[in-house]
Amino acid sequence: MSARAGEGVLAAVGGTPLIGLKRLFPWSGANFYAKLEALNPGGSIKDRSAMGMVLGALRSGELVPGRSTVVESSSGNLAVGLAQVCRLHDLDLVCVVDPKTTPQNLAILSAYGVRIEMVAETGDGSKDYLPARLRRVQELFEELPHAFWPNQYANLLNARAQESVLDEVVRELDGRVDYLFVAAGTCGTIHGCSRYAERHGLDTRVVAVDAEGSALFGDKGGNRLIPGHGAAVRSGLYYEGIADSVVRVSDQDCVVGCRRLIGTEAVLCGGSSGAVVSAVTQWLPHMEDGANCVLLLPDRGERYLDTIYSDAWVLEHFGDIGHLWKEPGGTVVGA
Ligand SMILES: Cc1ncc(COP(=O)(O)O)c(C=O)c1O
Repeated sequence: MSARAGEGVLAAVGGTPLIGLKRLFPWSGANFYAKLEALNPGGSIKDRSAMGMVLGALRSGELVPGRSTVVESSSGNLAVGLAQVCRLHDLDLVCVVDPKTTPQNLAILSAYGVRIEMVAETGDGSKDYLPARLRRVQELFEELPHAFWPNQYANLLNARAQESVLDEVVRELDGRVDYLFVAAGTCGTIHGCSRYAERHGLDTRVVAVDAEGSALFGDKGGNRLIPGHGAAVRSGLYYEGIADSVVRVSDQDCVVGCRRLIGTEAVLCGGSSGAVVSAVTQWLPHMEDGANCVLLLPDRGERYLDTIYSDAWVLEHFGDIGHLWKEPGGTVVGA
């Protein structure tokens, strides 16, 4: 048995496919590739982060199988990644979530045997549950014996785990990665990729894809509908120069990007993947012929069937915008 097979389900984390995208931007002279992080077993790029942080803590002795409890504020992809690695290593997991968490995500976490702690109120009259969730994490951390808080917004192991993404891409493209488009939330992915590029002297232009109304790269806070990229506060993993450029994408452009991706390439991905597609569309006029442009697509689309891929939901939130993705070619999204 190979060493990887001995890791159980975690052997399937990473090594995701890089596919060519020939139909998305047929009028461009650049080459486009998508890294399908949806094909991680938990369904997203956050499997890498969860595995990196938990295995690191097991190695350092901060976590002990059969005794410790992991506590984290997450209701989405990181929670699923943590559920997977914690179950396998006989660690209890408590996820602090809020009323915006989808029933489907709650059901997935329950299936892994996760204890769910719902924060009912924001506590300050705002719509942002993050401070209340973090307060609850702190309380649980103090109450529970042998508790461990991975703290994905400040844990360098989150970023280190993501260096593998660019490493895999570089190997596939023989070192020629001219553009890398990365959706940013905790900044774990972009931090890991940018540090990797610096260390290996790559001239890759790393483009951060942020949400309109996200505080990550200094925008004013605002209400966002689509989870994944963007954050209400600047992450501890952010550093000056983490990205060569930043593109901000609206919720509507995420939808348009997702719908175009499935319509042209038959790839069903989540909201931040649509943001990445939209960001590349904005960049097309500056992209040189022959350049290799890589789109990191963070998660799969099945968990967005009631929102991004629901015609009724799209109509309710954005009106009749079907023409933006139905017309082949031409339309510059978000310009
Ligand atoms: C779907 C999706 N896209 C993008 C991101 C942002 O990635 P990172 O936290 O590494 O910045 C996340 C993070 O949870 C995510 O779940």
